[in-house]
Amino acid sequence: MFLIGIDIGGMSIKGGIATLAGEILYKATVQTHLQYTDEHPITEDIAKLIENLLEQSGKSLTEFYGIGIGSPGAIDSARGVIRYANNIRMQNVPVVEQLHEQFNLPVFINNDANCAALGEYVYGAGRGYDDVLFVTLGTGVGSGILIGGKLFEGREGGGAECGHMSLYRDGEPCTCGRKGCWEAYASATALIRITKQAMLRHPESLMHEIAEADNAVNGKTAFLAAKRNDPAGQSVVDEYIRNIGDGLVNLANIFRPEVILIGGGISHEGAYLTDPLQKIVDEENFGAAFNPRVVVKAASLGNDAGLLGAAALVVTNCVKA
Ligand code: BGC
Repeated sequence: MFLIGIDIGGMSIKGGIATLAGEILYKATVQTHLQYTDEHPITEDIAKLIENLLEQSGKSLTEFYGIGIGSPGAIDSARGVIRYANNIRMQNVPVVEQLHEQFNLPVFINNDANCAALGEYVYGAGRGYDDVLFVTLGTGVGSGILIGGKLFEGREGGGAECGHMSLYRDGEPCTCGRKGCWEAYASATALIRITKQAMLRHPESLMHEIAEADNAVNGKTAFLAAKRNDPAGQSVVDEYIRNIGDGLVNLANIFRPEVILIGGGISHEGAYLTDPLQKIVDEENFGAAFNPRVVVKAASLGNDAGLLGAAALVVTNCVKA
């Protein structure tokens, strides 16, 4: 028996067939639309992805325990509804009902970062810890909070949105409508904005050459330049790490977890990113000399965390040991 995991991202929707042990056997992807409507709901794209996975694998629906979905936004996991999402605009989408009707399998949904946190907790860098804070830096900034091994979702799934704590009252606009959100400073989207601004100020920077070779300014541009001793690239990286660190210290003070895991594409920078973040958290957390240390580590499942975590939703909800 197998699991289907679906991870809805800002750029693409990923699907996979996984085993109970967390091995992904088949994968498929479709591009995310920026605006879903009642006529073209997101469940239509998810259904296509599932059909594709079934075709690839030659498996029939009877071989699956169920379908797990991770979606950005406030997710009412009990009712199976995407209540509100800010980056991909969606409101009150009854995902579980629509997919259950089509596939007649148990369907579960939770916030994408909650799923990735669960994935890391069950299969990745979160194994062995009880109190885990997972932060993912991508199109937005997502967070998953595990307290004593249980996901904290807030009332009706509307909480645990650490990306939307505001750091600057009159700061950068966020897609949620507020200003100064951590997301507007620490997401990959923010990193790209900061990189582009620095490139305008520094025509001599290596970042231009690197972006040209990649055909785009992306989350790696400044990091690659900094590693080649480009001063402008280094200052972008320093500023970006500082932005992440400011939020992490707040979260360390509020939750004092055992570990903070950093996920999302940027986490591929590994120790280059986490060493300075660990230093900031070590030096600036409340009562640093007296309180237990909060470890900062890169997540280990990379792009698969969300997908495996979505699959793990099915395990936690309906597979009896
Ligand atoms: C959304 C979160 C989501 C995160 C990562 C944020 O903008 O508000 O719900 O987890 O992006 O996708």
